[in-house]
Amino acid sequence: MENKNNLTLSLFADEQMKKEIEKKIEELSGQIEQHNYNYYVLAKPVISDFEFDKLLEELIKLEKEYPEFLKSDSPSQRVGGQITKEFKTVKHKSPMLSLGNTYSEADLTDFDDRVKKTLHTEYEYVCELKYDGVAIGLTYKNGILVQAITRGDGEKGDDVTTNAKTIKSIPLKLHGHDYPNEFEIRGEIFMPRKVFDELNKEREEIGEQLMANPRNAAAGTLKMQDSAIVAKRNLDCFLYFILGEDLPFQSHYENLKAAKKWGFKISDHMKKVSDINGVFNYINHWDLERNNLAFDTDGVVIKINSYDQQKMLGFTAKSPRWAIAYKFKTQRVATILESIVYQVGRTGAITPVANLKPVLLAGTTVKRASLHNADIIEKLDVRIGDTVFVEKGGEIIPKIVGVDESKRHAHSYKVIYITHCPECGTELIRSEEEANHYCPNSLACPPQVKGKMEHFVGRRAMDIDSLGAETIAQLFDAGLVKTVADLYELKKEDLLKLGRMAEKSVNNLLEGIEASKKVTFERVLYGIGIRHIGETTAKKLAYYFKNIDALKNATLEQLLEVGDIGETTAQSIIDYFTDKHTVKIIEDLKSHGLQFELSEEQLINTSDKLNGLSFVVSGVFSKFSRDELKKAIEQNGGKNVGSISGKTSFVIAGENMGPEKHKKAEKLGVKIISEDDFIKMIE
Ligand code: IVH
Repeated sequence: MENKNNLTLSLFADEQMKKEIEKKIEELSGQIEQHNYNYYVLAKPVISDFEFDKLLEELIKLEKEYPEFLKSDSPSQRVGGQITKEFKTVKHKSPMLSLGNTYSEADLTDFDDRVKKTLHTEYEYVCELKYDGVAIGLTYKNGILVQAITRGDGEKGDDVTTNAKTIKSIPLKLHGHDYPNEFEIRGEIFMPRKVFDELNKEREEIGEQLMANPRNAAAGTLKMQDSAIVAKRNLDCFLYFILGEDLPFQSHYENLKAAKKWGFKISDHMKKVSDINGVFNYINHWDLERNNLAFDTDGVVIKINSYDQQKMLGFTAKSPRWAIAYKFKTQRVATILESIVYQVGRTGAITPVANLKPVLLAGTTVKRASLHNADIIEKLDVRIGDTVFVEKGGEIIPKIVGVDESKRHAHSYKVIYITHCPECGTELIRSEEEANHYCPNSLACPPQVKGKMEHFVGRRAMDIDSLGAETIAQLFDAGLVKTVADLYELKKEDLLKLGRMAEKSVNNLLEGIEASKKVTFERVLYGIGIRHIGETTAKKLAYYFKNIDALKNATLEQLLEVGDIGETTAQSIIDYFTDKHTVKIIEDLKSHGLQFELSEEQLINTSDKLNGLSFVVSGVFSKFSRDELKKAIEQNGGKNVGSISGKTSFVIAGENMGPEKHKKAEKLGVKIISEDDFIKMIE
């Protein structure tokens, strides 16, 4: 009897504890989402990044221990990690229309006349900025984000829910209680200019083609397979259109204001005006001010506020008659092309840059413009001394779009593209598929060597923060370092002789270099700067091959088997290891004690038992959390995919796996296994 009582008591205590954990998880989730909202929607953070990370870590830890409490709207979902092989095509509940475009005040007056004629009464316009990104439709049920679909062809779009969830300004769960049970809200996903600049800087560092503009970058990012990369790209989202049965108001502006209270990012630049003159004022204001925004806008959208009036105006086949877009004129000026200089990047890529007679454009003085490559110069046929037209369009860097040939000097001649490196004199090469010329002298061409060293010591690689660009230049110019391996041979007395370096900075520098010997393999692999190998790819390769020799000996086919590695990247790895000079640098670095294999700790639990197999994880598990299970798949060489297809090797089914998934797996003949079956596979 006593025993039974004890058992009941301990069961009760267990239940009690679980309830508390559930409550704690809920509390943490609420706090974290509030901080996300403060930071990403209100732009008013109240805690430090460090404190925020602590909260998130705590939540993730609890969810791992108690996966039964992990919810689809948990802020931990924003970290990403799920892979979508193919995005599902989904039909829009109501078509995603586009807007008619206008380009002048006269066009807008015509629009206003048509509105006046139909309505015969007072009306209000809402003016908004036209955000330059990718349109998205978000569906919420009972306050929870359930689906995110791209515009597609307007009728059908792609389901990008997993990726959209990583965008911190998109609420996963709504605030308050007065939202409709089910509704759709549409808006624009965009990449803020600063994020775009950083992304391109990073791409330049690893020798990747630069993104043309933030819109392309946002579109490309949203369709990436790996949501963990999407999460790192810091996309953002403004919402501007809401559809549903039981919206709180009968007008657009008021509903958007309500949506703002539910946690959506609704622009403060939205303005209600009482007539077309108000619209003109709004346009004139933003035509100038748009240069100071943190994101790109290519115009203004004008909408009739009242839903009743919207209904009266109706739609054409393609667009509403109650709304219209006004496109800003691209700002363009004429100036003189004074000279062309050629820059050499870390990877040896040559970029021609135009020096212009300084001219005011969109609020800034423009002195230089990129000419990109030889083809562009040829196509534009720009010549030194020409009067050229410079534009600031979607791109942030101004570009030359044409030449005023009527002003051309009689003696001008076509630009003869350089044949030799302006820095080291080596003959340039250009392969068929590349737009740029390259200087092949990667081992001795000064900007290439210095650039490679800067990359090597960078924060995300060897993290030698006592070694900046200036010191690198000093060391290189003094002949003390020719390769990154030479850094590890630096002596105190040599450094002291350099001048400008006090003993303390010399000690700091040497300590930093010494400490870098402990930096883990994946970061060393990123640091050595193989073309096309960014941080994420370096990590993938490190875990897949485990040490540098295995990577070095890999064939093209083997490299292509690693998830997300394409032909270009694979070939670049092969080329890297075929060059005996780079191999020598690696050998030197090895002899200095840098990490060229995964550590014991990293190796525990890793194998290649699941090579070539792909898994879909579904449901709740008892021995692993979902994240742990996915990690175990990756560490053993397998691949996680988001949805079941004919190519999926296994579905690991936990409790509560959806019946739809079950049916699909059976239909496609994909094997369904349990958590225990999986454990046996990796044991
Ligand atoms: S309203 C039925 N508002 O412009 C009305 N659209 O050609 C739906 N856009 O596909 C659109 N900013 O991607 C609206 N403030 C804004 C907008 C906006 C950008 C985009 C949107 C749409 C396209 C219209």
